[in-house]
Order: sequence, then structure tokens, then C-alpha cells
Amino acid sequence: MIYVLNGPNLGRLGTREPEIYGADTYADLVELCVSTGKELGLEVEVRQSDFEGELLSWLHEAADRRIPVVLNPAAFTHYSYAVRDAVAMRTAPLIEVHISNPAAREEFRHTSVVAGVATGTIAGFGLQSYVLALRAMADLIR
Ligand code: DQA
Repeated sequence: MIYVLNGPNLGRLGTREPEIYGADTYADLVELCVSTGKELGLEVEVRQSDFEGELLSWLHEAADRRIPVVLNPAAFTHYSYAVRDAVAMRTAPLIEVHISNPAAREEFRHTSVVAGVATGTIAGFGLQSYVLALRAMADLIR
């Protein structure tokens, strides 16, 4: 089992700033992650929340159950020490992903408070960032 956890506003993919995040919807993202998981022989559960506390609960659950995580913390990436602290408690690999390349965008997106406690980061490949992360995860946990 692998969790793919998504932070705020990612449920709005498809209508949200399509020039940055593309035209694919959140449902398309879920389908892409589940089908990529199947190809890799991994069960993938995809979740999204606009609430920091809910994301924290899922990270705690992943830590308790030693579940690997692919995490797009969305805007929390840049300022949530609570998300960072939850990621720091991880008991399995955690890959940070971004659809866009935050380093090529506004200054406030250049800092990730999560990156330093993640296994690694994949950013800037559109929804393919998730596919690359799931492949990397499959290699890591095998
Ligand atoms: C994002 C990048 C963040 O800066 C932004 O706040 C998001 C999405 C991405 O996937 O490109 O919500 O994490």
C-alpha cells in the first residue's frame, strides 16, 4: 500500500489555473495514480484535503502503519512547519511531488519546509511528476 496525499486546492485541478496545472482533473490524477500503481504491482490510495489537520492525521496514520507516501503538500509546502514535523516522523520513504516547478515561480514558492525531511523531491513534470514518484517509490521499497 502506498498513499498519495494531496494538500489544499488540488481537488480543483482541471479548473484551477490550467495554464499552470494543466487541464486534467483531480479525478484524472486519481485514475493515473491508481493505474500506475497497478502497472507497478502496488496498491495506491489517493486522498486530498484542504485541511491541514486532516493531512496531518493521514501522515500520522502512514507513520503508524509504515506506509510509503507520495505527498503534494501544495501551498503547505512553503510554510507549514506542522506538515514538516509530521513528515519528519515518517517510518517509510516519502517523496515530495509538485505538478509545476516551484523554483521557477514566485519567490515564496522557492522554499520548501518539507524537502529537508523528505526522501526526495520531483517537481515540474505536470501529472507525470506523480508517475515518476510512484516508479521511484517502487524501486525504493523493493
Ligand atoms: C504545487 C505548487 C505549490 O506552490 C502550490 O501552492 C500548489 C501546487 C504544485 O503541485 O505545483 O498548490 O504544489
